[in-house]
Amino acid sequence: MRFHLFYLLGLLSVSSLTHAGNLICYYDSASYLREGLARLHTSDLELAMQFCSHLVYGYAGLKAGTHELFSLNVDLDMFYYKDITALRQKFPQLKILLSVGGDHDVDLAHPNKYIELLEANRTAQQNFIDSSMILLKRNGFDGLDLAFQLPRNKPRKVHGSIGTYWKSFKKLFTGDFIVDPQAEEHKSQFTDLVGNLKTAFRSASLMLTLTVLPNVNSTWYFDVPKLHPQFDYINLAAFDFLTPLRNPEEADYTAPIFFLDEQNRLPHLNVEFQVNYWLQNHCPAQKLNLGIASYGRAWKLTKDSELSGYPVVHETFGAAPGGQQIKSSEGLLSWPEICGKISQNSSALYRGEQAPLRKVTDITQKYGNYALRPADENGDYGFWVSFDDPDFAGIKAGYVRGKGLGGVAVFDLSYDDFRGLCTGMKFPIVRSIKYFMG
Ligand SMILES: *[C@@H]1O[C@H](CO)[C@@H](O)[C@H](O)[C@H]1NC(C)=O
Ligand SMILES: *[C@@H]1O[C@H](CO)[C@@H](O)[C@H](O)[C@H]1NC(C)=O
Ligand SMILES: *[C@@H]1O[C@H](CO)[C@@H](O)[C@H](O)[C@H]1NC(C)=O
Repeated sequence: MRFHLFYLLGLLSVSSLTHAGNLICYYDSASYLREGLARLHTSDLELAMQFCSHLVYGYAGLKAGTHELFSLNVDLDMFYYKDITALRQKFPQLKILLSVGGDHDVDLAHPNKYIELLEANRTAQQNFIDSSMILLKRNGFDGLDLAFQLPRNKPRKVHGSIGTYWKSFKKLFTGDFIVDPQAEEHKSQFTDLVGNLKTAFRSASLMLTLTVLPNVNSTWYFDVPKLHPQFDYINLAAFDFLTPLRNPEEADYTAPIFFLDEQNRLPHLNVEFQVNYWLQNHCPAQKLNLGIASYGRAWKLTKDSELSGYPVVHETFGAAPGGQQIKSSEGLLSWPEICGKISQNSSALYRGEQAPLRKVTDITQKYGNYALRPADENGDYGFWVSFDDPDFAGIKAGYVRGKGLGGVAVFDLSYDDFRGLCTGMKFPIVRSIKYFMG
């Protein structure tokens, strides 16, 4: 299978592609400032552009109080915005958008500023619209992607061992908390804001897209029938359903395609549910792009975690150390960092700091792959990581094709193996998606 896939990918070239699906490539510009192997240069980026239909530059911020769109890193962006939009000269088909939010707009003093924008009056919202148009036009972007940081679903808690006692209290603990008592108002305010944005953008020939961030509940915030006509595309970031920060005590598939009805899993924490929610609310399939993460999430296994590693894995202890190159938040590893830890050597060490991870491939092709290393006798160095590798990303691309969706959105280029460290092939996840989407 592995040989077969990579053989095919090797044959993939621009000329052999029939352009069926969109491939929306998110690009976190902060990766330009990383050090060492994790630094993504513009020349690396260019290599991916033969596969991408859209490049989404991440991320701009929202200024609290004035509600203006602004650069989160002026020193970088004042030159780099234009370097990126200049890629269009080499790739005339490429659409280049700027994304706002995306969980990168961290403002501890104003954690609710996206909600404050929704609640603001028409005059104040016009600041957002006007400042967006100026920033986009001045820097040559084709449009804006709204990746608003709205309140999240509460994380689930399973604790299967407590059984029926727990189940009777399940409602209290599984995400049915009222996270936002004003969600209904915020939903209609969002619809109004988007309508006004779209009117302004239409006359300026700017695109408008929506990114539904992980665990932002579409039922609460998005009036699908009214919204979908306003957006060129809707990108569903249908991953990170569980993460070590949200769910420190249990590890599970972070982005399963289907619902695996075991161990009190919640029915909405999977790709199929999220996609169907939008389809059932009359969003045309062609407008939906399925988000696929090119990174994995890792938990620390303890001596009490199941040895098999079969998820749901209980008794985990929060995030395992994140990738050493990307130096990102705890428990996050890029695909090359994950592949570098996986051993093909069946006689290698099983436990301990130097031991590689054993990969478990999901032969049902429904839930995802993972890799693990049990904790040693002192309870140290246990590791369990859930991820979409090039093979599984390809399976998801096949799913997208089967559902007739618009395409795939990759989060993000800087976490794919852009140096070809795993197998020598650069951007294997992007290539696999492109190939299997057809
Ligand atoms: C709109 O809100 C701003 C404060 O955000 C306020 O100064 C202004 O008076 C309001 N305008 C109207 C018409 O209510
Ligand atoms: C939103 O959350 C509720 C539980 O609080 C859930 O029943 C519903 O399916 C979720 N909607 C989506 C689209 O995930
Ligand atoms: C496999 O691992 C064992 C034990 O660490 C080591 O002695 C051996 O050289 C490894 N084989 C290969 C092909 O790397």
